Amino acid sequence: MQKIVIEPISRIEGEGKVTIFVGANNEVIKARFQMLEFRAFEEFVKGRMIWEMPLITSKICGICPVPHQLAAVKAAEAALGVKEIPPTALLLRKLILAGGAIQDHALHFLYLAFPDFIFGAETPPEKRSVTGLLEKHPDLAKKAIFLRKSGVRMVEMIGGNSIYPVTAVPGGMTKSLAQDDVREIEKIYRQGLAMAEECAELAWKVVTSQVKDRFPQNTPTTKFLSLVSKDNELAHYDGQLRITDEKGNPLETFPASDYTTFIEEDVERDSWAKFPFLRRLGRHDGVYRVGPLARLNTINWIRTEKAGAWLEKFKTLGGGQPVHEIIYYHLARCIELLYEYEMSLKLLKDETVTGQETRIPVARREGEGVGIVEAPRGTLIHHYWCGQRGEVTRSNMIVPTTHNNAALNQAVTSAAKQFVNDGELDEAGRQQIEMAVRTYDPCLSCATHSWDADRRLKIEILRVDE
Ligand code: MG
Ligand code: NI
Repeated sequence: MQKIVIEPISRIEGEGKVTIFVGANNEVIKARFQMLEFRAFEEFVKGRMIWEMPLITSKICGICPVPHQLAAVKAAEAALGVKEIPPTALLLRKLILAGGAIQDHALHFLYLAFPDFIFGAETPPEKRSVTGLLEKHPDLAKKAIFLRKSGVRMVEMIGGNSIYPVTAVPGGMTKSLAQDDVREIEKIYRQGLAMAEECAELAWKVVTSQVKDRFPQNTPTTKFLSLVSKDNELAHYDGQLRITDEKGNPLETFPASDYTTFIEEDVERDSWAKFPFLRRLGRHDGVYRVGPLARLNTINWIRTEKAGAWLEKFKTLGGGQPVHEIIYYHLARCIELLYEYEMSLKLLKDETVTGQETRIPVARREGEGVGIVEAPRGTLIHHYWCGQRGEVTRSNMIVPTTHNNAALNQAVTSAAKQFVNDGELDEAGRQQIEMAVRTYDPCLSCATHSWDADRRLKIEILRVDE
């Protein structure tokens, strides 16, 4: 058996590797994207108080602390029987979630993924990065930094901390937003909005021009899952879950609290990450995807002017059906970036946003609750059980990268079949496989914080001789 290994993968959040299995006739049998670290949060939160969960679980990841905090606080509120939080708190939560998404989408598209579109395999890997971008396109690199910073500023204002927010508690938020803060962030966001428009244009240009010749073909067609509003509008903080099939037909719509009825998790031997699938359809037909591409495929509307127009344009790519090609994740991400700015600027105009009543009292009780938000990478599920004192007795979390695990493995396999020749992988092919992984923007940091001196994607080819 021969194997090609790419380890660790670079320019993604966290650490994983790709292993390619090659048979006796040099044919690629399969390829696997493996997440290498063991994630223990579900176990070690047992015994902690449920109101501590937003603080504890936001530390799962330095990239996605905001969505973890909000999924956690929603799950805790559901368990403790909180039906409604003050309108100001709701606005603040939507704004901080959008701020987190802005910094995250800008980071992924411009810092991590975009360099592959302008630097080919002839460029040394260390220059296929934001440092290469700074040298070659300093104006664009500065915009990337501005966009990211604008989202971080919002997280800092509402969350009380630039990376790990501390203000979401069961019953509301511990801090209100000052008038001065609103004026400051509006100014920053208006600039950000203009840059995000450029970003969407840029994404359209690079993905539509490179989709044919410079990208893994035959990417999987799957079902899609995301939160949607009651009339199928884009929704990130609340809504119901909607699943559509390969052709865009609705399969299921259900409240977040029913997710276990529809989603089952499978385990495979060579990865610490699970493989969720749609229970009714089974492990093979039930593969689905989440994230920006999934969201734009499951919804019918975006009711902001610019992102709404972009959604129409995006939908033409599928010719009446969902858009399946993985490269379009990047375009979908940039359309959402635009949406986050437009939607936030709208919410900031509501004077309730600076209201002083941000929290209601909450009593301890025995309970069970599910909290779901759309994180930048997709649907994030937290599910807790607590006893009478409020102590957590059990928990389950499904992070976006886990939902995408099966589809990600399919994409890596088709890329390997296309780019491994005579059992060998050249630098150009290696870059293509890395690009296939990066479309999903996998976040392994949600599981790992380890470090390796060689931060490159490791591709391993295994030769199978029997
Ligand atoms: Mg789990
Ligand atoms: Ni993460």
